[in-house]
Amino acid sequence: MTNNTAILQEHINNMWLDYLNLTPDAKPIHKLFDELNDNIINDHIALRTFNLSKTSIDNIANPFIQQGYQYADSYEFPQKKLLAKYFIHPDSSLPKVFISELITEEFSQEIQDIITSLVEQVDATEVSKLNFCYSGRPWDISLKQYDILNAKSEYASWVAAHGYRPNHFTILVNSLTSHKNLASLNDFLIKQGFTLNSSGGLIKGTKDQLLEQSSTNAKKIRVQFTDGDKEIPGCYYEFALRYPQNNGDLYQGFVASSADKIFESTSNN
Ligand code: NI
Repeated sequence: MTNNTAILQEHINNMWLDYLNLTPDAKPIHKLFDELNDNIINDHIALRTFNLSKTSIDNIANPFIQQGYQYADSYEFPQKKLLAKYFIHPDSSLPKVFISELITEEFSQEIQDIITSLVEQVDATEVSKLNFCYSGRPWDISLKQYDILNAKSEYASWVAAHGYRPNHFTILVNSLTSHKNLASLNDFLIKQGFTLNSSGGLIKGTKDQLLEQSSTNAKKIRVQFTDGDKEIPGCYYEFALRYPQNNGDLYQGFVASSADKIFESTSNN
């Protein structure tokens, strides 16, 4: 184990503990699989941000890069006005880090002004630290601002309300002995009473695309705003089944059309 790995594992563990506070389903689901399996691998952690220079993907990624993560690939989501990049670590025991950002300039001046007013409150030196990505909301926001953002972009309102916290963790289904495919895993979770994201079908992606994904729907949690509180979607748990490429190694990338639907796991509807 390298020094990087030890440092990163400590932060990833802290991220997991923070994530549990926003994801009522995560602990019971993890426990269910933990009882049935020897080893559960975390495929990737997802983070969300705004693309203003201070909080850009590259700035959020930088503390991970400093600990050995490397840029792997990027994806565009034109309908949702998002860009995403993912990063991998040479130590394959560490999860991939998938970071998306809202392309703010594609929204109205009103939306841009709200987001600018939030990001202005961020301390740039904090962004450069590894614990920033689970430090919570670094700005004040009112319910009115939240509602304005939510009407135009569920993603914008999620970032505005929660700030910098892991959006989801992901069980690598290949690491499970209890469930070998997503259909049986999804059935199992539904029978246990969990609600899954059905946007685009329960299973996103195909064997031909080398990646199949499903996820829970984020449960609502109560969040405090400057002028009151409101129950809004928290975070979700994702499940990924990867298929081997021609060289025999499991595909490590993502599928934009699937991720587009997975983003809707934090939808209000
Ligand atoms: Ni994901």
